[in-house]
Amino acid sequence: MSLNPRIRDWSGRTVWMVGASSGIGRATASRLHALGARVVVSARTAATLQEFVSGHPGSEAIALDATDRGAMRAAAARIAERQGRIDHVVYCAGTYTPMRATAFDLDVALRHQQVNYVGALVLLDAVLPQLLKQAAAGQGGHLSLVSSVAGYRGLPQSLAYGPTKAALINLAETLYLDLHAKGLGVSVVNPGFVETPLTAGNGFRMPALITPEEAAVQIVRGWAKGSFEIHFPKRFTLSLKALRYLSDSLYFAAIRRSTGV
Ligand SMILES: NC(=O)c1ccc[n+]([C@@H]2O[C@H](COP(=O)([O-])OP(=O)(O)OC[C@H]3O[C@@H](n4cnc5c(N)ncnc54)[C@H](OP(=O)(O)O)[C@@H]3O)[C@@H](O)[C@H]2O)c1
Repeated sequence: MSLNPRIRDWSGRTVWMVGASSGIGRATASRLHALGARVVVSARTAATLQEFVSGHPGSEAIALDATDRGAMRAAAARIAERQGRIDHVVYCAGTYTPMRATAFDLDVALRHQQVNYVGALVLLDAVLPQLLKQAAAGQGGHLSLVSSVAGYRGLPQSLAYGPTKAALINLAETLYLDLHAKGLGVSVVNPGFVETPLTAGNGFRMPALITPEEAAVQIVRGWAKGSFEIHFPKRFTLSLKALRYLSDSLYFAAIRRSTGV
């Protein structure tokens, strides 16, 4: 049984992707455009968004900072007015700086909280009234949050990043409980390592690294299956999921052994 309405036909669907100027968001927006969706891409860098629009006829760019409430509300209103509805909303904006407790930086930690988590709340504030209105009219809609396997349990170097991703997973689960019965889809995307600007500075070998295009295929497949959690690549994420169920002492020992911290 699928947890969400399956999305197999993208033609004419309005998709708003926040965090779509590069990496996973851009690749997913591009794939959905190829499948016939009307794609609206957002991020801070207007020039990169414009490049996307040039290469994807019929798409639209709205440059904004996801933490800016006014800008997000204005964007949601513009999309709803122009397109009549918002079928699919994805929060893919994110930032990542490795951090350990021995070099704690409050500003960096708060920036992660703002971009990775608060931005998702700002998006909810902007789109929930429209999605609930659509639900009441029997039209549906889908909300997807891009989190990370780094949100499953504590990981080395993840002091600023991991807690924001754990919060997003919890947020998605709670949203599901409230919105599913109303006919709205809610999903959370938990990628392993994907080769993007976000991970370019990682000074270690990233196991099971995939391209943003491969990530996009997995994400769209997850929406087609009606999954709640979309995680990939399975050869990596399944072992991390298994670690979730270990006792604390076994988990800490396993992470220490595999990462050398
Ligand atoms: N790459 C991985 O291995 C991996 C693994 C698990 C999860 N993820 C998650 O996947 C998502 C996408 O990451 P990515 O790897 O594709 O990295 P990326 O290429 O750096 O993409 C991040 C996107 O977020 C946008 N962004 C950052 N701050 C923003 C803000 N304040 N307002 C609006 N947009 C903002 C960036 O655009 P601008 O800079 O133009 O604003 C960019 O479009 C993130 O949530 C990340 O945590 C990535």
